[in-house]
Amino acid sequence: MARSKSISLLNKAVADELQAVHQYMYFHFHLDDQGFKPLSQLFKRIAIQEMGHVELLAERVLFLKGDVEMVSAGPVEKILEPEAILVKAMAMEEDGVRTYNEAALECAANADSASKQVFEQLVLDEEGHFDQYDKQRDNIQRFGLSYLALQSFSGPAGGGAEGQAG
Ligand SMILES: [Fe+2]
Ligand SMILES: [Fe+2]
Repeated sequence: MARSKSISLLNKAVADELQAVHQYMYFHFHLDDQGFKPLSQLFKRIAIQEMGHVELLAERVLFLKGDVEMVSAGPVEKILEPEAILVKAMAMEEDGVRTYNEAALECAANADSASKQVFEQLVLDEEGHFDQYDKQRDNIQRFGLSYLALQSFSGPAGGGAEGQAG
């Protein structure tokens, strides 16, 4: 098994996850400030799940006797408009799905099936995140931005997904 190759793939994923945590918390603050409470809460829930991904990846890096580089892959983009926020978040999730699928294949080629499984778990979770953002964007397109404001009076975004895993 090529440990160093896996460690480098895992650390690259840590960087992407940290960037997602920062970006989603930025969206959380601003959507809350604009009065879009349920969508703001959705971003907070998913940011916490991305933090869980950092932990999963970090545990695997340490198991492989590497160290975790806690550096974000890039700066936060200052997007404030709700639909543009969702478009950005969906692009990040799609990028994650593609990157982690490739990483899973590389880990398999390097005979590191445990790291492969970590990446496969992340692929499933990121597809779930994409789907939740996609549903919100679809509703904005169908009903307009007033959908987000009205939603604030009728419960959480994503049909009460509070505490939902994935
Ligand atoms: Fe993630
Ligand atoms: Fe995600």
